[in-house]
Amino acid sequence: MDLTILLFMTIFGLSDAVSMKRKAYFNGTAYLPCPFTKAQNITLSELVVFWQDQQKLVLYEHYLGAEKLDSVNAKYLGRTSFDGDNWTLRLHHVTIKDMGSYDCFIQGKPPTGSVILQQTSTELSVIANFSEPEILLTQNVTRNSGTNLTCSSKQGYPKPKKMYFLITNSTDEYGDDMQISQDNVTELFSVSVSLSHLFPDGVDNMTIVCVLEMESTNISSKPVILVLPEFHPIGKHLIEISAGIIIVILFPLLVFIVAKTCCKKPGRPRNTTCTSERDSSADRRSSINLEELEPQIASAKPNAE
Ligand SMILES: *[C@@H]1O[C@H](CO)[C@@H](O)[C@H](O)[C@H]1NC(C)=O
Ligand SMILES: *[C@@H]1O[C@H](CO)[C@@H](O)[C@H](O)[C@H]1NC(C)=O
Ligand SMILES: *[C@@H]1O[C@H](CO)[C@@H](O)[C@H](O)[C@H]1NC(C)=O
Ligand SMILES: *[C@@H]1O[C@H](CO)[C@@H](O)[C@H](O)[C@H]1NC(C)=O
Ligand SMILES: *[C@@H]1O[C@H](CO)[C@@H](O)[C@H](O)[C@H]1NC(C)=O
Ligand SMILES: *[C@@H]1O[C@H](CO)[C@@H](O)[C@H](O)[C@H]1NC(C)=O
Ligand SMILES: *[C@@H]1O[C@H](CO)[C@@H](O)[C@H](O)[C@H]1NC(C)=O
Ligand SMILES: *[C@@H]1O[C@H](CO)[C@@H](O)[C@H](O)[C@H]1NC(C)=O
Repeated sequence: MDLTILLFMTIFGLSDAVSMKRKAYFNGTAYLPCPFTKAQNITLSELVVFWQDQQKLVLYEHYLGAEKLDSVNAKYLGRTSFDGDNWTLRLHHVTIKDMGSYDCFIQGKPPTGSVILQQTSTELSVIANFSEPEILLTQNVTRNSGTNLTCSSKQGYPKPKKMYFLITNSTDEYGDDMQISQDNVTELFSVSVSLSHLFPDGVDNMTIVCVLEMESTNISSKPVILVLPEFHPIGKHLIEISAGIIIVILFPLLVFIVAKTCCKKPGRPRNTTCTSERDSSADRRSSINLEELEPQIASAKPNAE
């Protein structure tokens, strides 16, 4: 078997390095492949396979068919798993700092070993999906002050290109400059943009959408429909308004009718009774008491027939 390896070494030399690009999601798993294309017959038990990062720190080593932790750097302990079927190393809980290049080396069985049979480089990039942009009203909508809005999106990577508002059917982009902040632990970006906008004359509602534009895709917020308050208070307050009408108009009216009916009573001197009745009802107008009205209504009834 050593002979075979030597043979391959002489045929292909050391220049045969494969280079690949891989993407991984933040906090997800990165796949660092190490395809051994030269000799299908050689098994893992006859080889030494290991991965290094760009600082030459060892992520993982598979030594003659078994995992070997001696040379693995502490920062990678417990973060990797090896897939023996397709010779791929899985790097778990990927962070932004994991971005960079990785090399996988395949060596022959010692003593022939230490000669590298094949090398694979992987350029790893890390991405994190920004949260769906969210529009927040920082001020209530009025005709005079218009509206102040902010839109924000969190925890993404890499930096987005821009962020803006779209208003109703216009394709114009509205809003201030995009504000970017970076989390100093996760290194993820959060972005926001503000807008101060008046309602154009004759317009009583606007549909506003916020768009976050990235290299390859855009993410849009849910649309927000802003309606000037003058145009919709009636339905909501109908009950309160009717109650107000009853108290303010109907009760004094009732009192007035009762007082009038009493004045029409035959056999009662108009001047004395009615004036005293009016005075007392005027005194009680602020807090009308049904119990006090009832005797009057009762006494009025027989006469009404
Ligand atoms: C990473 O993922 C794990 C679950 O797989 C979750 O519990 C943890 O909160 C995540 N961390 C971050 C920073 O998103
Ligand atoms: C490699 O495997 C093929 C069949 O899969 C076999 O014909 C060949 O003899 C093997 N070569 C060595 C060197 O084992
Ligand atoms: C490697 O193979 C396993 C199944 O054997 C598969 O689930 C995994 O996706 C493969 N990885 C790559 C990077 O092809
Ligand atoms: C990120 O967004 C893309 C589409 O925009 C989606 O296909 C993918 O599943 C998302 N990934 C995560 C981890 O949320
Ligand atoms: C908007 O008005 C409501 C009452 O109508 C009030 O409770 C709320 O605090 C106001 N919001 C702002 C941002 O001024
Ligand atoms: C916006 O477009 C929709 C159809 O796409 C149309 O029904 C609506 O009237 C338009 N609004 C304005 C204000 O132009
Ligand atoms: C992150 O930055 C803030 C202020 O910029 C600082 O107070 C905090 O200690 C930093 N955290 C770390 C882990 O560096
Ligand atoms: C709304 O935005 C304008 C312009 O940025 C600002 O002058 C005004 O004070 C803001 N109003 C509120 C209530 O934040």
